[in-house]
Amino acid sequence: MLGAAWGVEEVTLRLYPERELPVEVERRYGGWLERRVAGEPAHHLTGTCPFWGREFEISPAVLVPRPETELVVETALELPLPNNARILDVGTGSGCIALTLAAERPGWRVSAVDRSSAALEIARRNSNRLGAAVALYRGDLATAVAPPWDLIVANLPYVPKDVLARLPLEVRHDPVAALDGGSDGLDLVRSLLSDLRRLLRPCGGAILEIGEGQADAVAEIASMAGLAVARRVRDVGGVDRVIVLQPR
Ligand SMILES: C[S@@+](CC[C@H](N)C(=O)[O-])C[C@H]1O[C@@H](n2cnc3c(N)ncnc32)[C@H](O)[C@@H]1O
Repeated sequence: MLGAAWGVEEVTLRLYPERELPVEVERRYGGWLERRVAGEPAHHLTGTCPFWGREFEISPAVLVPRPETELVVETALELPLPNNARILDVGTGSGCIALTLAAERPGWRVSAVDRSSAALEIARRNSNRLGAAVALYRGDLATAVAPPWDLIVANLPYVPKDVLARLPLEVRHDPVAALDGGSDGLDLVRSLLSDLRRLLRPCGGAILEIGEGQADAVAEIASMAGLAVARRVRDVGGVDRVIVLQPR
């Protein structure tokens, strides 16, 4: 945080500990510390967050990218997709998943959608900042964009409504629209899955980030929607965090 307040790399602070702190930096840093103590996440203060080795701009309009979401990227990069695959990121927020995939696989044609225009503005800024081309659309789930897709990735809101009020103070700084998954947390996942067979190529697939304890319920919803579970991927805490689905 001190490095960000000063506009220098953390390593510079360590290499030159004798450098005197300019007054305006001390003032900014002091203000940030007070807000941090009051529970505001550090990434909201600095306005940036690292994801898959790149720095993303964030704002209160988007979910702060989480380390576990890198599992979605990792899983996608392992798939044997064509060089010019059509990829759709549903609920893109800061654009962290879509832009990372576009940057890592320049041949892939990546599109991303979100219902929030404020979130899309941040995704657009990140696209310019990182020089990664992603077509951005505003819409409800995948209804605004034309199929078929080789791969759909999504980290949709999956927190059950009654859990929202009990979330840690820091998480409550994320937009409710990025967290609220309805009564059992799976309202949006259910809607997307019911449309996946129409959206995907017959040999395509979908990668979803899900909440702790939701994997079996998502597998059941998938089965009713004519989809098969190809893989479940655990996070470092041993939780089934990512699920890979294919048309049956
Ligand atoms: C959990 S956040 C994920 C953001 C980003 N993909 C990430 O992994 O950090 C979910 C995102 O879905 C968006 N969203 C919620 N409901 C939506 C809907 N019906 N259609 C499209 N996007 C939606 C929210 O605005 C939010 O940006």
